[in-house]
Amino acid sequence: MSIATDYKVGVLGTGGVGRTLGSAFIELGHAVKLGARTAENPTAEAWARTAGSLASTGSFADAAAFGDVIVVATLGVATEDVLHAADPASFAGKIVLDTTNPLVLARGQRPTLAFGHSDSLGERVQRLLATAHVVKVFNSVCHGLMIRPTFDHGPPDMFLAGNDPDAKRFAAELCATWGWGAVDLGGIDASRFLEPMVIAWLYAGLQRGLPLSTSGTWTHAFKLLQR
Ligand SMILES: NC(=O)c1ccc[n+]([C@@H]2O[C@H](COP(=O)([O-])OP(=O)(O)OC[C@H]3O[C@@H](n4cnc5c(N)ncnc54)[C@H](OP(=O)(O)O)[C@@H]3O)[C@@H](O)[C@H]2O)c1
Repeated sequence: MSIATDYKVGVLGTGGVGRTLGSAFIELGHAVKLGARTAENPTAEAWARTAGSLASTGSFADAAAFGDVIVVATLGVATEDVLHAADPASFAGKIVLDTTNPLVLARGQRPTLAFGHSDSLGERVQRLLATAHVVKVFNSVCHGLMIRPTFDHGPPDMFLAGNDPDAKRFAAELCATWGWGAVDLGGIDASRFLEPMVIAWLYAGLQRGLPLSTSGTWTHAFKLLQR
């Protein structure tokens, strides 16, 4: 499957990531349904009003059933519950772009992950959606940078992981279209190391004195240098 193929996109999540990627798929000409906990959600409806005629809204289950390609952009620690409730059967055989991180954000403390090293949310999502083609991607930078970021040093790199080569090719094609080099880390088990990259990305901002509350608009990204 190529990103130019005719397909619909279900986006689970009404936060900055879901709305940003939803709008980017619409720009590419695809119909997008943005899903939330409840079918009527003011944030999703406000997004749909500005996103044009290819945009629609619904519940998480509606979005999963709608999409031929599915973006998972839900609060990390709630993601497994969301997918259970949305009905794993709706994801069968589909490409699932998993942007989530199991972040723990406690007031006054630096962010951490709820679990990792010997497991990851990417693997949990793949286990839960056993016949879906899950790619962990777009999890290691803020949503403000996801689409066509510009840097003096050229395009940054997006790291991705997944078990299905075609799904990874699709994700890499999206990365290229949206201004990123793509670095394949291997199977979905590499999410164990890809999810902590967001912690490194967050600490890099915090150490420079940037407030966590503004992280959606931070302007640094990763690049793998090679010669
Ligand atoms: N923010 C970024 O720039 C960024 C960048 C890369 C990756 N990520 C990762 O991408 C994911 C989405 O991030 P985000 O900032 O766009 O949104 P978010 O605020 O982390 O999550 C928003 C979505 O999660 C749902 N949600 C929240 N609490 C829930 C609960 N208790 N049970 C079920 N659903 C719940 C919300 O449902 P409703 O719509 O019903 O409110 C909403 O759709 C996260 O896992 C995050 O770590 C974020």
